[in-house]
Amino acid sequence: MNKTIVALDFSSREEVLGFLAKFDEPVFVKIGMELTYACGLDIVKDVKALGHDIFLDLKLHDIPNTVKGGMKNLAKLGVDVINCHCGGGIAMMKAAKEGILEGTPEGKEPAKLIGVTILTSVSKEAMNEELGIDGEVMDTVVRYAKNAKEAGLDGVVCSVHEAKAIHEACGDDFLTVTPGIRLAGGNVNDQKRVATPEYAKEQGCDYIVVGRSITTSADPAKTYREIEEVMSNGAV
Ligand code: C5P
Repeated sequence: MNKTIVALDFSSREEVLGFLAKFDEPVFVKIGMELTYACGLDIVKDVKALGHDIFLDLKLHDIPNTVKGGMKNLAKLGVDVINCHCGGGIAMMKAAKEGILEGTPEGKEPAKLIGVTILTSVSKEAMNEELGIDGEVMDTVVRYAKNAKEAGLDGVVCSVHEAKAIHEACGDDFLTVTPGIRLAGGNVNDQKRVATPEYAKEQGCDYIVVGRSITTSADPAKTYREIEEVMSNGAV
């Protein structure tokens, strides 16, 4: 699988298929709430039929039994990576994993399960005062990553700045998937803490999620290839 995941943040099937037609080889894509809630899960099947690898980013978070049932049904789609919130606790994450294993069709590889730690949109102040979690964001992120590992997850979503500490705490095999990527000199948009693909690679991020830097590029396939070159060959 490629190391660069392009976020398909579109609201219609036509936009997605038009965008993917610009690529002449399979890529790794992320399908999130925006697209799923607009098109339903059929969009996953359509994108899969084109040969692309899929990260289904629906961030499940509910009681363990419900998450297990949800994951069991999602696993039937044959996606490559899927996620849930670490904030649901270890029992919920374990249930998510069980659901995936039960729902994966026989003979198929189960989707990798990734936990969402503290959203990068949550500041230290919000975490301390609104969520009632004391201390530094980094400490909670690492704690959540350890919980995810204990529950049998394959890795976590985190910011570039936390990837190193997570690998130190959970091992190099524990995957880190990081959004908030911008090309050198590119537009930051609404992201607060951004980093380049080169820096992400240097920090040991296993996969990066890139949205607008690719989707708004004049030549998305070329931009994707250039970023993937950095991530897979370590051209830092
Ligand atoms: O366009 P951009 O590269 O900022 O898109 C980043 C993608 O990663 C979006 O799909 C966004 O929802 C997702 N994401 C994020 N920050 C998180 C979790 C997910 O930007 N903490």
